[in-house]
Amino acid sequence: MEDTVKPSLEPSIIVIFGITGDLSQRYLLPALYHLFKDGLLHEHTEIVGLTRQAMTADELFGKVELCINEVDNICDPVALKRIISKTQLFQFDPNNSDDYPKLLEHLNAIEATHGVCMNRLYYLSIPPKVFAATVQNLGKAGLNGSCEHGNAKTRLLVEKPFGYDLASAETLIKETNEVFAEEQVFRIDHYLAKETVQNILTFRHNNPIFADIWNNQHIASIDIIASEKIGIENRVNFYEGVGALRDLIQSHLLQLLAVTTMDLPSELDNDSIHAARQALLEAVVPADPAEAIRGQYDTYKQEVGNPDSTTETYARINLRIDTERWRNVALSITTGKALQEKHTEITLTFTSPADKIANVLTFRIHPNEGIHVQLRVKKPGFDDEVADAAMDFSYKQTFGGDSTHPDAYERVLVDAVKGDRTLFSSSREVLASWRIIEPIIQAWRDTNEGIATYASGSAGPNDEALVQ
Ligand code: BG6
Repeated sequence: MEDTVKPSLEPSIIVIFGITGDLSQRYLLPALYHLFKDGLLHEHTEIVGLTRQAMTADELFGKVELCINEVDNICDPVALKRIISKTQLFQFDPNNSDDYPKLLEHLNAIEATHGVCMNRLYYLSIPPKVFAATVQNLGKAGLNGSCEHGNAKTRLLVEKPFGYDLASAETLIKETNEVFAEEQVFRIDHYLAKETVQNILTFRHNNPIFADIWNNQHIASIDIIASEKIGIENRVNFYEGVGALRDLIQSHLLQLLAVTTMDLPSELDNDSIHAARQALLEAVVPADPAEAIRGQYDTYKQEVGNPDSTTETYARINLRIDTERWRNVALSITTGKALQEKHTEITLTFTSPADKIANVLTFRIHPNEGIHVQLRVKKPGFDDEVADAAMDFSYKQTFGGDSTHPDAYERVLVDAVKGDRTLFSSSREVLASWRIIEPIIQAWRDTNEGIATYASGSAGPNDEALVQ
């Protein structure tokens, strides 16, 4: 981070609902640690962790693998001490409305101690089913307001999936907007905050050689793949009933599609980017369930303790975009857990209709972050033989082995404290993506039909056997 510009952030209280949960331990706390270590947060910053258990900050940090993103996984003792001293745990039950006024008092007391108005960020790292009631309780207790003596802001940060299907997302958006205005709501999509994903827009914007061929005259197909080696780990309550389609496709992977194919606005500012992503998502034709594939890894049912589970851990869908620019381009999105390897990338295959020769452009999101272009070249020799050759950009090689770009969750937190909503999904984008997958949600609801079992650690279900 040495050479990057430090954001100037405001005093803030970051309130984490569900601080002992998996998401908080895996992503949020390591990201916060790093921000404290790099001195990026304002000196008047406090973390308030809400948990049903009686627990101290020392106990919590003793359990968390806080420095998994650091060199050799080692914490800096000074930074560690600092984050612990800045974190207080507050015993709280999100289902108990009596706890909310107590939380308000607690936050007011923190502000009084600091003697400044502080932005309040409520990070809802809680199961989607308790989300609506929590937001209503925040409103009833007046927690949606802010410091009385200044102009600090109050913001709600929400993890996906935002809703369960199109109808529930509509209801949730309506209910949330009764308590928080749209500009206060930050719907997190940490894929949008990945350096490699932001680079897609930068790449498209700054490389005119690709601009004129970014359409169906030259691109035959776009394939987005996010395979994971891990299973659902301990997230039984979260995952069962959610599944791969909602967990990754509805949010992260449709946003990757949007960033790759949206019309580029002339200015890359918040409003223009939101409008462009939304317009693209609204132009995607609702997916055809007959072209979708789902699977479940072999040990899943046992892991979740539900022998009748119909939750998919693998999903593959085909899509079409109904615009002049993209009509007839074959689009596919695939994701799955417990597969051979962790691997996220977007591949665009360019063809010339005359001779069927293909160039391939790949955005590697993870691992080996970078961009790969496959070209056709003359093989040395007397014959006119043609061979494949690669042009490769690797973050590591270009920006140095130690170049640690900000982790996506650091970026999410920094932007939320700053109030920059560019990398968060608007309610219209969320609704548009639910609309795209709604036919598949309906077709897969409560039925086991067509769900294939695949071996953990394999390449996933055998596609051909499954396409109906
Ligand atoms: C989360 C999903 O949003 O993204 C997880 O809920 C998934 O199931 C994770 O493992 C993957 O994120 P990343 O950044 O590791 O690709």
